[in-house]
Amino acid sequence: MKEKRNIHELIVREEPHLLEILDPEQVTKFKELTNELRDTWTKKQMFRTKTEMEFSVLNDAKYPTNAAKYWQCVREQNTHMENLMRLSFDARKNDVEIKQKQKELEEEKDELKKELIQVEIDEKTYSKASMQLVAAHRMREVTEWSNFKKIYNDGTFDDKNVDTHQLLSYKKIMKNRKNTLTPGSSQPEVFNVLNGIYETNFVNLPDAHKQLVGKIGKENSLFFGGAKNNKMHKHNMLPPYVLNWFESIFKHYLEFNKISPYELHMNSIWINEMKAGEYNPIHIHQGTIYTGLSSVMILNLPKDMGPEFAREDVPMNGRLSIIGAAGGQFVKSDYSPNAEERDFYIFPYDMRHCVYPHTNLNAIRRTLAANMDVEYNPVSTRSAG
Ligand SMILES: [Fe+2]
Repeated sequence: MKEKRNIHELIVREEPHLLEILDPEQVTKFKELTNELRDTWTKKQMFRTKTEMEFSVLNDAKYPTNAAKYWQCVREQNTHMENLMRLSFDARKNDVEIKQKQKELEEEKDELKKELIQVEIDEKTYSKASMQLVAAHRMREVTEWSNFKKIYNDGTFDDKNVDTHQLLSYKKIMKNRKNTLTPGSSQPEVFNVLNGIYETNFVNLPDAHKQLVGKIGKENSLFFGGAKNNKMHKHNMLPPYVLNWFESIFKHYLEFNKISPYELHMNSIWINEMKAGEYNPIHIHQGTIYTGLSSVMILNLPKDMGPEFAREDVPMNGRLSIIGAAGGQFVKSDYSPNAEERDFYIFPYDMRHCVYPHTNLNAIRRTLAANMDVEYNPVSTRSAG
């Protein structure tokens, strides 16, 4: 079996031809290195090592239970098995092509054409060696995953149906992600944590209806830091780094717009889920004070917003529309972006906006809103004095 993957002979055979593309001294160097190059080719890393499998694929953050690890092993093993089968077919085709070329070579009279056919045979022989090497590594992975499956299948979970363990694993994954967020965490990480907190902790999230105008069944709060009132009391369902992330983004907005000095106080963060027909009428925001920044993060956006009643070329179902304060017949004052999941829109409290209903009975549109009070004196800082 080892001989199959030995390309020493192929390398030696190619040496004289390398003179066409290398300088003579480089070819001499290549000859000196032939054994080493064969060794490199054979041991080059292909796919993951066993250590990488264990520490990157089967780490606790991604796969927090033995069941989750087991099922990931099943997926990995299957991927390699399927690829191994495909490789086997490709190798068989390559073998037939080599035989065809050898037959052509025997029958060919023209010397130049014969040379060309020989090059093709050499190339296909090299490809075969590469396929054998890949096949050996795929088989190694199939075997390693089989070993890992035995280790993780401890008899405590359903190993027939993948769905059984997923809710438990998912909750643990979210908890791990939440605990590993840092000030440098990127928005996709924050986005994942926010969706995770919502999905796994929904029953504990306070109802946010009283302080909102939306015609929406599910509006639940994640954070309230404003003054005590009869509608909402202080609470926080978010880890500190998520709050810090929001603060840093709002600061970026203010600094980009050269607004200073200012003081920030996070007021509230909540999540809306819109079923078909639900909507958010035109409104503005406020916190403990009337100046500040509001925002919308798109947490889940159905690809299909349902049938438009007319003018499908101008879709409005489920769209956020932000309405500018400028007037005049040539002013484009409203903005209805073609939003995507993970987008985060920031705008001043007094900017009117609304969300149109979607009509897909099977879809949920989920967004997050965050209000940040910004204490700022626009008169004392204006340049005209
Ligand atoms: Fe709003």
